[in-house]
Amino acid sequence: MEPCLEIRSLSAVLPNGQRVLRSVSLTVQPGEVRALVGESGAGKTMIGKAVLGVLPKSVRIVEGEMLIEGESLGRLDAKARRTLIGARTALIPQDPLTALNPSRRIGPQTTDRLVRILGWSGEKADERIRQLLQEVQIREPERVLKCYPHELSGGMRQRVLIAAAFAAEPRLIVADEPTTALDVTVQKQILRLIAQLQRNHGTALLFVTHDLGVVAKISQKVSVLYAGKVVEEAATPDLFASPQHPYTRALIAATPRYTDPYASLMPVNETVLAGLADEVAGADRAWRPSHG
Ligand SMILES: Nc1ncnc2c1ncn2[C@@H]1O[C@H](COP(=O)(O)OP(=O)(O)O)[C@@H](O)[C@H]1O
Ligand SMILES: [Mg+2]
Repeated sequence: MEPCLEIRSLSAVLPNGQRVLRSVSLTVQPGEVRALVGESGAGKTMIGKAVLGVLPKSVRIVEGEMLIEGESLGRLDAKARRTLIGARTALIPQDPLTALNPSRRIGPQTTDRLVRILGWSGEKADERIRQLLQEVQIREPERVLKCYPHELSGGMRQRVLIAAAFAAEPRLIVADEPTTALDVTVQKQILRLIAQLQRNHGTALLFVTHDLGVVAKISQKVSVLYAGKVVEEAATPDLFASPQHPYTRALIAATPRYTDPYASLMPVNETVLAGLADEVAGADRAWRPSHG
Protein backbone atom coordinates (compact mmCIF):
# COMPACT_ATOMS: atom_id res chain seq x y z
CA MET A 1 0.00 0.00 0.00
CA GLU A 2 1.21 3.51 -0.82
CA PRO A 3 2.19 5.47 2.32
CA CYS A 4 -0.18 8.30 3.10
CA LEU A 5 2.78 10.56 3.81
CA GLU A 6 6.42 10.06 3.10
CA ILE A 7 9.10 12.56 4.06
CA ARG A 8 12.53 11.74 2.66
CA SER A 9 15.68 13.42 4.00
CA LEU A 10 14.07 16.79 4.47
CA SER A 11 16.44 19.58 5.52
CA ALA A 12 15.49 23.20 6.08
CA VAL A 13 17.46 26.30 7.08
CA LEU A 14 16.78 29.78 8.44
CA PRO A 15 18.31 32.90 6.82
CA ASN A 16 21.09 32.91 9.43
CA GLY A 17 22.09 29.43 8.30
CA GLN A 18 20.60 27.65 11.33
CA ARG A 19 19.36 24.21 10.37
CA VAL A 20 15.85 23.69 11.68
CA LEU A 21 15.38 20.27 10.05
CA ARG A 22 18.24 17.83 9.49
CA SER A 23 17.58 15.12 6.95
CA VAL A 24 14.22 14.20 8.46
CA SER A 25 12.61 11.03 7.15
CA LEU A 26 9.30 9.68 8.31
CA THR A 27 6.41 7.70 6.93
CA VAL A 28 2.75 7.56 7.88
CA GLN A 29 0.81 4.60 6.52
CA PRO A 30 -2.91 4.88 5.71
CA GLY A 31 -5.05 4.84 8.84
CA GLU A 32 -2.07 4.79 11.19
CA VAL A 33 -1.23 7.17 14.03
CA ARG A 34 2.37 8.28 14.13
CA ALA A 35 3.46 10.43 17.04
CA LEU A 36 6.19 13.00 16.57
CA VAL A 37 7.65 13.73 19.96
CA GLY A 38 10.38 16.06 21.16
CA GLU A 39 10.90 19.03 23.41
CA SER A 40 10.01 22.61 22.59
CA GLY A 41 12.04 23.99 19.68
CA ALA A 42 12.88 20.54 18.25
CA GLY A 43 11.15 21.37 14.95
CA LYS A 44 7.88 19.45 15.33
CA THR A 45 5.68 22.31 14.19
CA MET A 46 8.09 23.00 11.32
CA ILE A 47 7.56 19.46 10.02
CA GLY A 48 3.79 19.83 10.29
CA LYS A 49 3.94 23.12 8.41
CA ALA A 50 6.15 21.63 5.72
CA VAL A 51 3.60 18.87 5.15
CA LEU A 52 0.72 21.34 4.98
CA GLY A 53 2.63 23.68 2.68
CA VAL A 54 2.60 26.61 5.10
CA LEU A 55 6.24 27.00 6.08
CA PRO A 56 7.24 30.54 7.12
CA LYS A 57 8.81 32.52 4.27
CA SER A 58 12.11 32.65 6.14
CA VAL A 59 12.44 28.87 6.14
CA ARG A 60 14.09 27.37 3.08
CA ILE A 61 14.03 23.69 2.18
CA VAL A 62 17.52 22.77 1.01
CA GLU A 63 17.20 19.02 0.60
CA GLY A 64 14.64 16.27 0.46
CA GLU A 65 11.29 15.24 -0.85
CA MET A 66 7.74 14.93 0.43
CA LEU A 67 5.13 12.63 -1.02
CA ILE A 68 1.43 12.57 -0.29
CA GLU A 69 -0.09 9.26 -1.37
CA GLY A 70 2.85 8.77 -3.70
CA GLU A 71 2.66 12.22 -5.31
CA SER A 72 5.87 14.19 -4.94
CA LEU A 73 5.03 17.74 -3.84
CA GLY A 74 8.21 19.14 -5.38
CA ARG A 75 7.13 18.02 -8.85
CA LEU A 76 3.89 19.99 -8.74
CA ASP A 77 3.46 23.69 -9.44
CA ALA A 78 2.28 25.85 -6.54
CA LYS A 79 -1.40 25.69 -7.50
CA ALA A 80 -1.50 21.92 -7.99
CA ARG A 81 0.38 21.50 -4.72
CA ARG A 82 -2.15 23.61 -2.82
CA THR A 83 -5.01 21.65 -4.35
CA LEU A 84 -3.47 18.29 -3.46
CA ILE A 85 -2.62 19.33 0.11
CA GLY A 86 -6.07 20.92 0.54
CA ALA A 87 -7.92 17.81 -0.62
CA ARG A 88 -5.86 15.16 1.20
CA THR A 89 -4.78 16.79 4.45
CA ALA A 90 -6.12 18.86 7.34
CA LEU A 91 -4.83 20.41 10.55
CA ILE A 92 -5.97 20.25 14.14
CA PRO A 93 -4.08 23.23 15.56
CA GLN A 94 -2.44 23.84 18.90
CA ASP A 95 -4.43 26.94 19.75
CA PRO A 96 -8.09 26.72 18.72
CA LEU A 97 -8.71 30.41 19.44
CA THR A 98 -6.12 31.88 17.11
CA ALA A 99 -7.00 29.28 14.47
CA LEU A 100 -10.52 30.67 14.21
CA ASN A 101 -11.51 33.98 12.69
CA PRO A 102 -12.90 36.03 15.61
CA SER A 103 -15.26 38.07 13.45
CA ARG A 104 -17.10 35.23 11.71
CA ARG A 105 -19.67 32.80 13.03
CA ILE A 106 -18.68 29.13 13.35
CA GLY A 107 -21.10 27.99 10.62
CA PRO A 108 -19.79 29.93 7.63
CA GLN A 109 -16.15 29.64 8.60
CA THR A 110 -16.26 25.85 8.92
CA THR A 111 -18.26 25.24 5.74
CA ASP A 112 -16.23 27.70 3.65
CA ARG A 113 -13.28 25.41 3.28
CA LEU A 114 -15.45 22.54 2.05
CA VAL A 115 -17.04 24.77 -0.57
CA ARG A 116 -13.79 26.40 -1.62
CA ILE A 117 -11.42 23.44 -1.69
CA LEU A 118 -13.72 20.54 -2.47
CA GLY A 119 -16.24 22.46 -4.57
CA TRP A 120 -19.19 21.24 -2.51
CA SER A 121 -22.51 23.07 -2.53
CA GLY A 122 -23.34 25.19 0.53
CA GLU A 123 -26.09 22.75 1.53
CA LYS A 124 -23.84 19.73 1.30
CA ALA A 125 -21.16 21.48 3.36
CA ASP A 126 -23.75 22.53 5.98
CA GLU A 127 -25.11 19.02 6.22
CA ARG A 128 -21.62 17.58 6.61
CA ILE A 129 -20.58 20.00 9.34
CA ARG A 130 -23.78 19.32 11.30
CA GLN A 131 -23.08 15.60 11.11
CA LEU A 132 -19.49 16.07 12.33
CA LEU A 133 -20.55 18.39 15.17
CA GLN A 134 -22.67 15.48 16.40
CA GLU A 135 -19.73 13.11 16.11
CA VAL A 136 -17.65 15.39 18.33
CA GLN A 137 -20.54 15.30 20.82
CA ILE A 138 -21.69 18.88 20.54
CA ARG A 139 -25.22 18.71 21.84
CA GLU A 140 -26.63 21.87 20.32
CA PRO A 141 -25.05 22.09 16.87
CA GLU A 142 -27.55 24.69 15.65
CA ARG A 143 -26.65 27.07 18.45
CA VAL A 144 -22.91 26.50 18.05
CA LEU A 145 -23.05 27.16 14.29
CA LYS A 146 -24.42 30.64 15.05
CA CYS A 147 -21.81 31.44 17.71
CA TYR A 148 -18.71 33.56 17.35
CA PRO A 149 -15.52 31.83 18.54
CA HIS A 150 -15.29 33.91 21.74
CA GLU A 151 -18.72 32.67 22.82
CA LEU A 152 -17.41 29.10 23.11
CA SER A 153 -15.12 27.51 25.68
CA GLY A 154 -11.63 26.36 24.66
CA GLY A 155 -12.78 22.75 24.65
CA MET A 156 -15.81 23.55 22.47
CA ARG A 157 -13.63 25.51 20.02
CA GLN A 158 -11.30 22.54 19.71
CA ARG A 159 -14.28 20.22 19.14
CA VAL A 160 -15.40 22.51 16.34
CA LEU A 161 -11.93 22.42 14.75
CA ILE A 162 -11.77 18.63 15.06
CA ALA A 163 -15.15 18.43 13.32
CA ALA A 164 -13.92 20.78 10.60
CA ALA A 165 -10.73 18.77 10.11
CA PHE A 166 -12.55 15.46 9.65
CA ALA A 167 -15.42 16.94 7.61
CA ALA A 168 -13.61 16.84 4.28
CA GLU A 169 -12.50 13.21 4.81
CA PRO A 170 -8.78 13.97 4.47
CA ARG A 171 -6.43 10.98 4.26
CA LEU A 172 -4.03 12.59 6.70
CA ILE A 173 -4.55 14.93 9.63
CA VAL A 174 -1.69 16.77 11.29
CA ALA A 175 -2.56 17.39 14.94
CA ASP A 176 -0.08 19.85 16.44
CA GLU A 177 -0.22 19.57 20.26
CA PRO A 178 -4.02 19.74 20.02
CA THR A 179 -4.58 19.57 23.78
CA THR A 180 -1.74 21.75 25.07
CA ALA A 181 -3.74 24.99 25.16
CA LEU A 182 -6.69 23.41 26.98
CA ASP A 183 -7.63 23.00 30.64
CA VAL A 184 -6.26 19.79 32.11
CA THR A 185 -9.78 18.46 32.71
CA VAL A 186 -10.66 18.87 29.04
CA GLN A 187 -7.41 17.49 27.61
CA LYS A 188 -8.33 13.84 28.16
CA GLN A 189 -11.78 14.21 26.57
CA ILE A 190 -10.33 15.88 23.51
CA LEU A 191 -7.61 13.26 23.14
CA ARG A 192 -10.20 10.49 23.40
CA LEU A 193 -12.37 12.23 20.84
CA ILE A 194 -9.54 12.55 18.32
CA ALA A 195 -8.66 8.87 18.80
CA GLN A 196 -12.30 7.88 18.33
CA LEU A 197 -12.81 9.89 15.13
CA GLN A 198 -9.46 8.72 13.80
CA ARG A 199 -10.54 5.09 14.20
CA ASN A 200 -14.06 5.59 12.87
CA HIS A 201 -12.90 7.47 9.80
CA GLY A 202 -9.71 5.48 9.24
CA THR A 203 -7.74 8.71 8.89
CA ALA A 204 -3.94 8.67 9.18
CA LEU A 205 -2.68 10.98 11.89
CA LEU A 206 0.64 12.72 12.41
CA PHE A 207 0.31 13.58 16.07
CA VAL A 208 2.76 16.19 17.33
CA THR A 209 3.35 16.31 21.08
CA HIS A 210 6.00 16.90 23.73
CA ASP A 211 4.20 14.50 26.07
CA LEU A 212 5.18 10.82 26.18
CA GLY A 213 2.00 10.02 28.11
CA VAL A 214 0.02 11.16 25.08
CA VAL A 215 2.30 9.20 22.74
CA ALA A 216 1.58 6.02 24.74
CA LYS A 217 -2.16 6.61 24.61
CA ILE A 218 -2.70 7.49 20.97
CA SER A 219 0.01 6.22 18.63
CA GLN A 220 1.14 2.96 17.06
CA LYS A 221 4.43 4.37 15.79
CA VAL A 222 6.63 7.15 17.06
CA SER A 223 9.45 9.32 15.79
CA VAL A 224 11.62 11.10 18.33
CA LEU A 225 12.87 14.49 17.20
CA TYR A 226 15.85 16.22 18.76
CA ALA A 227 17.27 19.50 17.41
CA GLY A 228 15.63 19.00 14.02
CA LYS A 229 16.78 15.41 13.65
CA VAL A 230 14.87 12.15 14.01
CA VAL A 231 17.07 10.32 16.51
CA GLU A 232 14.90 7.26 16.88
CA GLU A 233 11.79 5.70 15.46
CA ALA A 234 9.93 2.63 16.61
CA ALA A 235 6.62 0.97 17.22
CA THR A 236 5.30 2.78 20.28
CA PRO A 237 5.36 -0.17 22.72
CA ASP A 238 8.94 -0.98 21.65
CA LEU A 239 10.06 2.60 22.28
CA PHE A 240 8.95 2.41 25.89
CA ALA A 241 10.17 -1.16 26.37
CA SER A 242 13.64 -0.63 24.92
CA PRO A 243 14.54 2.93 24.03
CA GLN A 244 17.74 2.92 21.96
CA HIS A 245 18.89 6.53 21.81
CA PRO A 246 20.23 8.30 24.93
CA TYR A 247 17.91 11.24 24.27
CA THR A 248 14.87 8.94 24.19
CA ARG A 249 16.01 7.37 27.46
CA ALA A 250 16.40 10.80 29.04
CA LEU A 251 12.95 11.81 27.79
CA ILE A 252 11.39 8.69 29.31
CA ALA A 253 13.31 9.16 32.56
CA ALA A 254 12.10 12.77 32.75
CA THR A 255 8.48 11.67 32.45
CA PRO A 256 7.46 10.74 36.02
CA ARG A 257 5.15 7.91 34.98
CA TYR A 258 3.34 8.20 31.72
CA THR A 259 0.53 5.91 32.83
CA ASP A 260 -0.08 6.83 36.46
CA PRO A 261 0.21 10.44 37.60
CA TYR A 262 0.29 9.37 41.26
CA ALA A 263 3.29 7.12 40.75
CA SER A 264 5.58 10.16 40.84
CA LEU A 265 4.73 10.42 44.53
CA MET A 266 6.35 7.02 45.16
CA PRO A 267 10.08 7.71 45.46
CA VAL A 268 9.65 8.63 49.13
CA ASN A 269 11.20 5.66 50.96
CA GLU A 270 10.16 3.89 54.15
CA THR A 271 12.53 5.80 56.39
CA VAL A 272 11.27 9.13 55.12
CA LEU A 273 7.69 7.95 55.58
CA ALA A 274 8.39 6.86 59.15
CA GLY A 275 10.00 10.22 59.88
CA LEU A 276 7.00 11.93 58.33
CA ALA A 277 4.63 9.93 60.55
CA ASP A 278 6.59 10.98 63.65
CA GLU A 279 6.50 14.60 62.57
CA VAL A 280 2.75 14.46 62.00
CA ALA A 281 2.20 12.77 65.34
CA GLY A 282 4.40 15.39 67.03
CA ALA A 283 2.46 18.19 65.37
CA ASP A 284 -0.76 16.50 66.50
CA ARG A 285 0.42 16.43 70.08
CA ALA A 286 1.48 20.05 69.86
CA TRP A 287 -1.94 21.07 68.54
CA ARG A 288 -3.92 19.16 71.12
CA PRO A 289 -5.35 21.65 73.56
CA SER A 290 -3.78 21.13 76.94
CA HIS A 291 -5.97 20.88 79.94
CA GLY A 292 -3.22 21.44 82.41
N1 LIG B 1 8.46 31.59 11.96
C1 LIG B 1 9.70 31.20 12.26
N2 LIG B 1 10.76 31.79 11.66
C2 LIG B 1 12.02 31.41 11.96
N3 LIG B 1 12.33 30.45 12.83
C3 LIG B 1 11.33 29.82 13.46
C4 LIG B 1 9.96 30.16 13.21
N4 LIG B 1 9.19 29.37 13.98
C5 LIG B 1 10.03 28.58 14.68
N5 LIG B 1 11.32 28.84 14.38
C6 LIG B 1 12.52 28.15 14.92
O1 LIG B 1 12.55 26.83 14.36
C7 LIG B 1 12.93 25.87 15.33
C8 LIG B 1 11.87 24.81 15.46
O2 LIG B 1 10.67 25.39 15.93
P1 LIG B 1 9.29 24.61 16.04
O3 LIG B 1 9.09 23.76 14.85
O4 LIG B 1 8.24 25.61 16.35
O5 LIG B 1 9.57 23.68 17.32
P2 LIG B 1 8.55 22.77 18.15
O6 LIG B 1 7.22 22.80 17.46
O7 LIG B 1 9.18 21.42 18.19
O8 LIG B 1 8.47 23.38 19.52
C9 LIG B 1 13.18 26.66 16.61
O9 LIG B 1 14.57 26.91 16.68
C10 LIG B 1 12.42 27.94 16.41
O10 LIG B 1 13.01 28.99 17.13
MG1 LIG C 1 5.36 23.39 18.13
